[in-house]
Amino acid sequence: MKIDVSRKLPEYMETLIVMHEEDGVFERTGIFSDALHDSIDEFIKADEFKFGKGNIRSFMRLVKGKKQNVILCGAGQKDKLTQPVLKGYMASCWREAIRMKATNIYFHYAFEVPLAELAIGHILAETALLTSYKYSKYLSDYKHHEPDNVHLVYYAKTNRYLNRGILEGRIFADATIIARDLVNEPANVLSPDALADQAKRVALDYGLSIDVFNADRIRRLKMEAFLAVGRGSKNEPKLIIMRYTGNPDKKNSLTALVGKGLTFDSGGYSIKPGNSMTTMKSDMSGAAAVIGTMAAISALKLKVNVVAIIAAAENMVSSDAYRPGDILTSMSGKTIEIHNTDAEGRLTLIDAVHFAIEKEKADRILDIATLTGAAVGALGKDFTAVLSNDDKWYEKLHAASEISGERIWRMPLHEPYNELMKCEAADLKNIGGPFAGCITAGLFIHQFVQDKPWIHMDIAGTAFTDKPKGTDGPGATGVGVRTLTTMLRTME
Ligand code: BES
Ligand code: MN
Ligand code: ZN
Repeated sequence: MKIDVSRKLPEYMETLIVMHEEDGVFERTGIFSDALHDSIDEFIKADEFKFGKGNIRSFMRLVKGKKQNVILCGAGQKDKLTQPVLKGYMASCWREAIRMKATNIYFHYAFEVPLAELAIGHILAETALLTSYKYSKYLSDYKHHEPDNVHLVYYAKTNRYLNRGILEGRIFADATIIARDLVNEPANVLSPDALADQAKRVALDYGLSIDVFNADRIRRLKMEAFLAVGRGSKNEPKLIIMRYTGNPDKKNSLTALVGKGLTFDSGGYSIKPGNSMTTMKSDMSGAAAVIGTMAAISALKLKVNVVAIIAAAENMVSSDAYRPGDILTSMSGKTIEIHNTDAEGRLTLIDAVHFAIEKEKADRILDIATLTGAAVGALGKDFTAVLSNDDKWYEKLHAASEISGERIWRMPLHEPYNELMKCEAADLKNIGGPFAGCITAGLFIHQFVQDKPWIHMDIAGTAFTDKPKGTDGPGATGVGVRTLTTMLRTME
């Protein structure tokens, strides 16, 4: 898709999108021809259309015998127009344009948008590309329609900031699509080994360094918790380590991004009931978010130092699989009694976290994981649940999420609930009972972060969706990439 800034409207436009604020007057400014303005006025009158929040209508008119699509979209009240809100309206415009099979689109704001030009360019490109995304690899006779050209009609003093924004929006979208493609790939294709290969491809494309450790190497590191989870599968687990050093002179600044990388989660012997297993190819969405983020920060050349760690495995059933009642010694030396083999994510994450601190010397840890159904029960599918031991860092994440539009909500890191994970035979057990499942899962990981600043993101509800909504879905959303990239930008 080509995206550019245009200062002029040609006489014939196949598709025109006009966004306007609710309260303002839709004035004649000389940008549109009188004939075009007349048809829009006529349509608004006949249809009693109002430019209210996200209202969208389209009509067709003839220009010298050729069909022209006109899409009108309401931006609501101008002073309530935040970046995520605008992305939502913009996504509706795009869905409508795609529905109309638009190929050459002119997009115009017929009011003064209260956002920086950089953001205006960014939002247009990011939203256009992400809304057009469709995972169609395995559809034999499917022809996906995607617009070829998008022109942002805008009158800036210079196009510099708009163009820079478009470039950034494209980087954010491309990185999010890397994550979506990985998550959408089924588990029969995307094994831990294949995930490692994909990470290598991204590393090559984006100039990152990468190491992949096989099971022998992982065994030598004594990551028994991680290994146990992958033992039931004939697909060998892999430890993937990607590094980006954007600020080599800055000491004590290494951020570790740890992504849950279960390429499939059957639940193991504590097996999942039928339906809840169907989408478990998405249980590596945290890993995908981390890989996408590495791509984005490298493309943006951020002056930060980041290591990504993915303990990739497949949770299956076999005579070699781990069992309820097994006692495992994690890399940290803490022992864990297994009370449920379906609480496997935390077992892989704690070894990855310990590795990040001890071997990579990370100064702070962020983990991102499709970890608990309880997170979905508590917050539904619109919010990622977050726990953190560091208010300042959490605030940065929250500020980033208010730009990206990927909503987060903080859960209490209530340490008395650590009691729920005490057990007789080992240092702790891997579940905390029926209540507060999202919090106890986070607390389990918290017990392995030592004194490091830490953020935990539970994306079980936000990573995968069956219905399209805004720029998302159906399928993988690529959640996390845009928020983490935006946050890392504020940590330069
Ligand atoms: N991968 C699942 C969590 C999940 C659930 C992700 C729904 C996406 C959608 C995780 O490994 C899991 O099975 N968690 C258990 C934990 C329980 C056994 C303590 C859960 O949430 O039921
Ligand atoms: Mn599970
Ligand atoms: Zn899982």
